[in-house]
Amino acid sequence: MKAILAVTAGFAAAIFLSAYAVATAADANKTVGPNACAECHKEETEVWKGTHHFSTFRDMPRSKEARAIADRLKIKRIKSQSLCLGCHFTTKGAGKKKKPIAGISCESCHSVGNDWIKTHSEFSGKTEKTESKAEAAARWEKSESLGMIRPAAVYKLAKNCFGCHVVPQEKLVNVGGHPAGSPFELVSWSQGEVRHNLWHSKGKSNPEAKAERKRILYVIGLTVELETALRAVGLATVRKTYAFRMARRADAARKKLALAAKAVPSVPEIAEIVKLGHSAGLKLENNAALTAAADNIALQALAVIGKYNGSTLAALDPMIPGGNKYKGKPVK
Ligand code: HEC
Ligand code: HEC
Ligand code: HEC
Ligand code: HEC
Repeated sequence: MKAILAVTAGFAAAIFLSAYAVATAADANKTVGPNACAECHKEETEVWKGTHHFSTFRDMPRSKEARAIADRLKIKRIKSQSLCLGCHFTTKGAGKKKKPIAGISCESCHSVGNDWIKTHSEFSGKTEKTESKAEAAARWEKSESLGMIRPAAVYKLAKNCFGCHVVPQEKLVNVGGHPAGSPFELVSWSQGEVRHNLWHSKGKSNPEAKAERKRILYVIGLTVELETALRAVGLATVRKTYAFRMARRADAARKKLALAAKAVPSVPEIAEIVKLGHSAGLKLENNAALTAAADNIALQALAVIGKYNGSTLAALDPMIPGGNKYKGKPVK
């Protein structure tokens, strides 16, 4: 029994480390840019062009609010300042040659494409019809090992969304006066203007995520929000806006998760996540404990994704935001 536990823990730790690495280390040398994706994904690209993620490239640097934030931080050129680049732009190149080439684009969410773009799209050197199931499975496995974040990888996708939308940067918030995060929730924010589920109908329809998937998005969204907010509190150094907002965010997420845990006692991992969320005080100079709690929460998130497909989580449905709460208007 002990040995089994040890093996399972080792396995979980390995996936956890790779998930974390993907979310933290996007290598701009490997960016191919949205035009490369558009060669085959025209419909998705059209949808993207109607989103704030696209328009921020042009609009943000021109806004008065942006200028004011930059001035307070003594930043001269917003588009050559790495502090803004990380969240508002897709960058290409390395070091001083690193340049913004678009707003928040395909690779901001699906990860930089150079290493996997060919593999994921070439049907193992055959055609869609002649590639066997086993070959397709191997192709997807290889694409993921090369860094691709597929829609099924909900934890990694959510890490990217929250990594930007929580705005876990103290100086940017306290000194720059930048918004201290968005009122972000994964179901409602992914199913509105951002939604681009057009591939399977060749652009004819853009269906919402299925009910089972929305339940997983809901739970994993809150879990990653808690994880990200705990790490953000850990980085706080002064009792100012940033620390208060990140702590409040962590507290709100663990409260919603506590309601979810009550609704689906058949998923003990959620109760465990809530417990971990309370295992480290939301205070300054507590980085080690907060980081340990966040690391363990990440393991539980991966356990939820590994064990459940959402079909047994229907009791969550009344908590999940409906169509009238979706952020922005979906296309079709
Ligand atoms: C040469 C054509 C081509 C290019 C270029 C291309 N794709 Fe694809 N993509 C495909 C094909 C074909 C599929 C579907 C494969 C299948 O169904 O087995 C696909 C599927 C996908 C999927 C869905 C994966 C899933 O799990 O169902 C995503 C996400 C994706 N591509 C993202 C991208 C991104 C991001 C880029 C640019 C970095 C890109 N693609 C560039 C052809 C391409
Ligand atoms: C950690 C990620 C992150 C960083 C770094 C960041 N932003 Fe933002 N920014 C966001 C998010 C997320 C929003 C959307 C907030 C919301 O939902 O209201 C935003 C919104 C804004 C807005 C208001 C909306 C708009 O786009 O006009 C301005 C202005 C802005 N950011 C400027 C900046 C400037 C200037 C910098 C660099 C000094 C910067 N941001 C760095 C994440 C970031
Ligand atoms: C690289 C950073 C980054 C990532 C990753 C990211 N976003 Fe954003 N998002 C932003 C910024 C910055 C804005 C604000 C843009 C603006 O208005 O100028 C924004 C705006 C939005 C908006 C429009 C909000 C409004 O005010 O109408 C939605 C919806 C959204 N994001 C959803 C998502 C979802 C869902 C994900 C993950 C699947 C995600 N974002 C991932 C940075 C990011
Ligand atoms: C803000 C993050 C974000 C951006 C930007 C983004 N995607 Fe996605 N993509 C997602 C998410 C999340 C899903 C799964 C959506 C769901 O479950 O409803 C997805 C799904 C997909 C799919 C599968 C669609 C289907 O019909 O099943 C493809 C293909 C895809 N994206 C390609 C692209 C391409 C190409 C771009 C750039 C033009 C792009 N994505 C930009 C987050 C993003």
